[in-house]
Amino acid sequence: MAERILVCLAWPYVNGSLHVGHLAGVYIPGDIFARFHRLLGNDVLMVSGSDEHGTPITVRAEQEGVSPKEIADRYHEEFLGYWRALGISWDLYTRTGTENHRAVVQEEFLDLLHNGYLFEQTLEAFYDPRAGRFLPDRYVEGTCPNCGYERARGDQCDQCGRLLDPIQLIEPRSRLSGEQPVLRATTHFFLDLPRLQQGLIEWVRPRTYWRPNVYSFTLNFLEGGLQPRAITRDLEWGVPVPVPGYEDKRIYVWFEAVTGYLSASIEWAGRQGDPQVWERWWKDPHARAYYFIGKDNIPFHTVIWPAILMARGGLNLPYDVPANEYLLFGGEKASKSLGIGYTVPDMLAHFDPDPLRYYLSTNMPETGDTNFDLLDFIRRNNDELVATWGNLAHRSLTFVQRSFDGKVPACDALDPEVQARIEQAFATVTERLSAVHFRDALRETMALAHFGNRYFDERAPWRQVKEDKAAAATTMANVLNLVNGLKTLFAPFLPHSSERLHQLLGYQDELRAHGWRFEHLPAGQQLPPPTPLFRKLETPELS
Ligand code: MF3
Ligand code: ZN
Repeated sequence: MAERILVCLAWPYVNGSLHVGHLAGVYIPGDIFARFHRLLGNDVLMVSGSDEHGTPITVRAEQEGVSPKEIADRYHEEFLGYWRALGISWDLYTRTGTENHRAVVQEEFLDLLHNGYLFEQTLEAFYDPRAGRFLPDRYVEGTCPNCGYERARGDQCDQCGRLLDPIQLIEPRSRLSGEQPVLRATTHFFLDLPRLQQGLIEWVRPRTYWRPNVYSFTLNFLEGGLQPRAITRDLEWGVPVPVPGYEDKRIYVWFEAVTGYLSASIEWAGRQGDPQVWERWWKDPHARAYYFIGKDNIPFHTVIWPAILMARGGLNLPYDVPANEYLLFGGEKASKSLGIGYTVPDMLAHFDPDPLRYYLSTNMPETGDTNFDLLDFIRRNNDELVATWGNLAHRSLTFVQRSFDGKVPACDALDPEVQARIEQAFATVTERLSAVHFRDALRETMALAHFGNRYFDERAPWRQVKEDKAAAATTMANVLNLVNGLKTLFAPFLPHSSERLHQLLGYQDELRAHGWRFEHLPAGQQLPPPTPLFRKLETPELS
């Protein structure tokens, strides 16, 4: 029976171009997973959108002297271009500025209030007297009380990953004036996390299938004790608080952005003309939700969002949160201001999507930080994509074109070794992809392509064809079927070249129609004139 799989990808802030680390950590893995499940015949819903609110956007708008909306519109458009170019197969990629999102977030807020999980409290918050306003968390910097990092932000420490409250910072500074801010009274709504703590611990403990870093970080965090967390802010930019007296305040971006997964699902359902259909992924207890995120987002997806869902009741919590670590550049974290790292538009201007997807998949920071290296990218493109996989496909197709009039040779049964290798690869890759282990899955697939090249070389059909044409036909039937199996195994990773290869193998329909299985090519199927799948990259084409 078809399974229901909700594929949620982190909502990127629209405050500047994304860098390729975002692709390796979130968008490529999420897309591979969604494509794999669709090929399996499962019901996939894959959603995300642009995160328009929050200080990253207002800081950028202030720097440029334009409105936050203008910044959000600009980068939202840019991001849509990335997804098209890379083939990220969204069911819906929306944004948090929609009317629908506002309504869903406000309803959720009122539900939690009604269920007794929100309370009001007056607190002292940082106020910048020079700027005449309260300071959002990220506008305050100081020393982390946990690890001593001196440039911790008011919401989170970039060094140890701990969530912070700005008043916990040692020697706080305002990012607006550089001065020490003062405390001033303000009233806010708080999420009663302590009341949810026990339920969260009981929910997390059996999730031993989570990635070890995600699992241990979350349990430590929960067992360390949860504090109530303010979910409104003194701001103008964001979702209004649906309670009188809060006209000058907004719902905290994190409470609101994580709700995007739900609001996007609801928006998608509306667009299908079936407004309740989202419930299949959110209310059916057999549906599974996967959240693809970077490691800095772990607590929001394994604690805050589950807490909100638990407090609300009746909606599925995450099934897995396969967070990735970071893709580094020359061993350093990407930084726009320091000019470290390549942006997505930098790379798309020079390279095709599949080589990029390939390199970012082989180098995915699944279990630790990895490094992006341009020469390594070019070498792997040339040695692996071109010389191994592309070569196997291309020389098979050209040989059949030349020696068999471009028709798939007939053969009674495949060589048992070939058949077994393909079946084994399907079994292993299926298991690896189901367990969200993408690098292993890709390595197994490439190993089958290596086997295909060895098989081709050992049989030497170019010699066979002169001595024993039937033997050459058998060899080529085996090789073409291997290529056909590999086409499917590579498809979640390299959708563009697999789709093209599907046509080169003589099919007129879409690869997807054939599903996730090894299918024998029909004997006699006419192959069109072949063209290479990948091209060799000469020297770094990027400065
Ligand atoms: N925009 C935030 C970030 O990039 C949050 C992403 S995930 C969300 O870190 F679900 F919270 F939106
Ligand atoms: Zn710290």
